This record gives sequence, C-alpha cells and structure tokens, in this order.
Amino acid sequence: MPSDSKGLILRNCNVMDTDSDGHFVIQKDAEIVIRDGLIEAVGPRGNFPIPSAEYEVLSCDSAWVTAGLIDCHTHLIYGGNRVDDYQARLGGGNYLAINRSGGGINSTVESTRATSHEDLLKLAKFRLSQMARSGTTSVEIKSGYGLDLESEIKMLRVARELDGFLGISVKATFLGLHVVPKEFVNRGDDYVEYIVNVVLPEVVNLGLLDAVDGFCESIAFSPGQLAILYERARSLGVAIKGHVEQLSNSSGGSLLAGFDALSADHLEYIDEKGVEDLARKGVVGVLLPGAYYFLSEKTRPPIELMRKHSLAMAVATDANPGTSPLYSLLLAMNMATVLFGLTPQEALRATTSNAARALGYRDRGRIEAGLRADLCVWGIDHPAELSYYLGLSPLIYRITDGVVRDAHTSE
Ligand code: NIG
Ligand code: FE
Repeated sequence: MPSDSKGLILRNCNVMDTDSDGHFVIQKDAEIVIRDGLIEAVGPRGNFPIPSAEYEVLSCDSAWVTAGLIDCHTHLIYGGNRVDDYQARLGGGNYLAINRSGGGINSTVESTRATSHEDLLKLAKFRLSQMARSGTTSVEIKSGYGLDLESEIKMLRVARELDGFLGISVKATFLGLHVVPKEFVNRGDDYVEYIVNVVLPEVVNLGLLDAVDGFCESIAFSPGQLAILYERARSLGVAIKGHVEQLSNSSGGSLLAGFDALSADHLEYIDEKGVEDLARKGVVGVLLPGAYYFLSEKTRPPIELMRKHSLAMAVATDANPGTSPLYSLLLAMNMATVLFGLTPQEALRATTSNAARALGYRDRGRIEAGLRADLCVWGIDHPAELSYYLGLSPLIYRITDGVVRDAHTSE
C-alpha cells in the first residue's frame, strides 16, 4: 500500500468531478498526482514529467475516481435507539404526535444524557466505520441530544475526538435549539435564553463548535426564537445552519438567508420566495431523502424551483435514530435521484463540492491542484453507477489527506 512519505500517482483512472463553475466534467485515462496530502496535478496520462523515484504508482485499472464524499448533515452521536417510535409509526403513529407526547427527540435526549463519553465515542466510531465503507471522507456531526450544558459539552467533545478517525474530518455543529427539553416544558423562551446566554458562550469559549443549528417547526422553535440564537452566533462569529420547512413552512429558509447561513436543511415545504432568498445569498440547500423516506413523507422538496433559481443542492444522510437511521451516503444519493428526481451528476455534486460549501470547506470537494487529496476510487464502469446501487458499495480505495485506505480497513 503506498504511504504518504513519498508522493503518489493514481494512474489509468477515469475522473468524474465538478469544475469551479459547477459543471460536471469527465476525464478518461487520467493521472492524479498527490504530494504531502495535496493534489499536485490532474490531467491526461503522461502529461507530467514526474521524477518517478519520488512517487509510488497505484494503477487504477480504469476505475472511476471522485472527490471524497462529504456527509454535511448528521446526528451520529446518540445513546439508545428509537425502535419504539419506528414500531409505533408502522402501527399508524405519527412523528409530530410522538414528539408532542414527550417521546421522539426527547427520548433520545434521555438516553444520550445517560450514556458516558466513552460509550458515545465507541458507538459513534462504529457508525463512522460503516459510513467510511460508502466513501465518506468528511462528516458534520450535530449535538442536540444533550440540551443541557454538561451533556451538550459531552457530545461536542466526542465529536472533536472523532476528528481524524479512519482519516475522516469532522465538523461539529451545536444544535442547542433542537427541541425544548422536559425541564423547560411550556417555557420555550426561557430555554432559548439559557441556550443563547449560558450554553452557547461556553461551548464557543471551549472551542467545541464550527457552527450553530436550530430546528424551526411547531414541535420545536419559532423563527423569532431562532433569530435570537442566530443574532448571538453572528456576533460571536459562528457560522449558521438550520433545519427548516421539513414538515411545514414557517419561512425558516428566508430567515437563514437573512443571516447569510452556510446551509438550509430539509426544505420539503419551502416555497419559491424561500428558494430565491437562499439562492440569492449563496446558501446551500441540503436535501435529506433518508428522513423523507423513513417518515413516509409525501411532499417532496421543489427541485424544479431549486434548479430554476440555481440553488446549490447538497445531499446528506441526516444519520439519526429517529427520522433517518441511514449511514450510507451512496444510498442517500440513490434516494435523492429516485425519490427527489436529481440526476446522478447532481447527486455527485451534492455530496462533494456543494456539501463542502455547506460546511464552509474551501480546501476540498473537487479534484484540482492545490486541494486536499481526499478521493474515492470506485469499481464501476459508468458514472451513473455510483448512485445506482441499493446497499452495495463499489468502493475500492478511500484516500484521505493523501493516505490510501483499503475500502474495508478499520483503524
Ligand atoms: O434532522 N428535524 C429534526 N431533527 C432530526 C431528527 C431528530 C430525531 O428525530 O431524533 C432530523 O430529522
Ligand atoms: Fe437533522
């Protein structure tokens, strides 16, 4: 296995990528030159006068190479599971009603509070190792199952500790405004004040977050309550994200546009004005087909409007125990094509360059000289095959920071 002490040349590969204008590009029989964790060059075979003693060569035998996949929305740190909710919904129960009666998200809060740092870390590592098998090289992880100072810090510390596990880069997002926890029942405004004035400044001081997030919905928080969080985040220089228009429209998309957010996530119920506002501000729309599927939702995000206004679309797993127990980004891509109507090219851009934007990464998401060498080598014959399989991963190698990892190696 080539190591990163020497340079590395991926030879005889077919490259599929997005150019800096967002267009899908293919290069057949290409070479990718990697040095010191960075892509040094990419182009036709034989184009580079390389001093071969300084480079190891990995022949790809016409395999396809993409940028490493980026999962830009997950909740993969949690204790317990939500099999009870799942069974209740199979029996006719409904997500909103389960949450309103104190189950749902609050039941995962209870089990996550009761799980130790070590156990959360162990569980999250197992989930990440599964994600790696589908080509994930960077992942975002939200807190939001702690909902008190101590438990939110515990979750965010676990997220920080996961950074680099199996070569995967981790961005941590503080989701303090996920739902109102039981101690604050019927006192939502007091809870918002606690999160904004006590918990947020502390997790910022500790350097535990890369962004804030909030859930804008009748079972969670109003746009006015989220605006209080976002004002404070902006004054602290923290990036902003939001769960909006998932189960109803409350103009959360326009709210996020007003705060120049990194991303607006879910968007099943967004209207044209919301799409326009997001697109104008360059906010990425993150589609989460796993939650749509698992909750048997019927309203699809308005993809045609998103195309019409050139909204950058990303796709993520939303891996979480309640609405999306989905860990394969490839399967999320498949769902985005079959359920939402994205093209396979849009699905690839949605998990590479647009997903990088949704996390504020400027150093990855495309295959270009100077960018970080996070790449996936796939055993497929046709570009569209990447989003075609259900539950089969054609991954051969995952390359992170220039280091080649066999598809099935654990640490
Ligand atoms: O992205 N929408 C809110 N949050 C999660 C669900 C969390 C849960 O049900 O535990 C989501 O779907
Ligand atoms: Fe989510």
